[in-house]
Amino acid sequence: MMQVITAIEEMRRYSRNIRGEGKTLGFVPTMGYLHDGHMSLVDAARKECDIVAVSVFVNPVQFGPGEDLDRYPRDIERDRHISEEHGVDVMFIPSEEEMYPDGYSTFVEPTGVIVRGLCGLSKPGHFRGVATVVAKFLNITKPHVIYFGQKDAQQSVVIKRMVEDLNMDTEVRVMPIVREADGLAMSSRNSCLSPEERGQAPGLFRSLKRAEDLVAGGEYSADKIRTEMENMMRETPDLRIDYIEIVDAHGLMPLDRVKENTLIAVAARVGRTRLIDNIRIGKTRESEA
Ligand code: PAF
Repeated sequence: MMQVITAIEEMRRYSRNIRGEGKTLGFVPTMGYLHDGHMSLVDAARKECDIVAVSVFVNPVQFGPGEDLDRYPRDIERDRHISEEHGVDVMFIPSEEEMYPDGYSTFVEPTGVIVRGLCGLSKPGHFRGVATVVAKFLNITKPHVIYFGQKDAQQSVVIKRMVEDLNMDTEVRVMPIVREADGLAMSSRNSCLSPEERGQAPGLFRSLKRAEDLVAGGEYSADKIRTEMENMMRETPDLRIDYIEIVDAHGLMPLDRVKENTLIAVAARVGRTRLIDNIRIGKTRESEA
């Protein structure tokens, strides 16, 4: 039977008992409205750890003013059902008051290149909110392994950095993007798209595929690849580009030329919904030369 915990103290106790029994704890933090992308993280945790914990918390401090906090999809009963089906042992579903009681005033502030570009530029304060809530979750649940999806590539870099910088005793695992049949990266926000917008949304992935094909054909100039991607995205009339960035996948430093371990990341709005996606380039012929 899956256990559902809402109080921080109870979650801490649960984790202490697990560790006391010598078992490993895998933790998947989410904002709910679970989909197959989340479930791939749960399945990985199920394989690698004795106990799997999933949190559902729509973290208000990672949303900027005017962002979609109120529109963010929520269905906790469905989340509980899906989690139980996937063999989750415990769900942690704290309230906002539990996480940020009156007088709350401490935040974790990622700095430097890793938050200067991509979503760090278009959503100021976002990663401060993410780092803060993940740090709190790590302190509460004390997992051996914490799981993230590669779709939020910058988030994973920020969290890995935080775990290293603050000497947190957890392994960070990043799992591949899970896509719909037409290439759209799975996201809770996809449920906000109208049928017409849903038809336009794979434009992000198409532009990334184009980039991948260009690199495979020997084109390594970041400017040229970006321009091709822009042209491709403009073919989808209702896609409004937020950014197209070509950066080093580990440190997120902007690159002039695609090389080994390059991240090509895009963000675009379709109607009122903002979507992100990315691909990793492994080796190029140039980097092998
Ligand atoms: O990726 C998400 O869903 C959120 O940013 C996270 C990691 C659960 C923190 O609120």
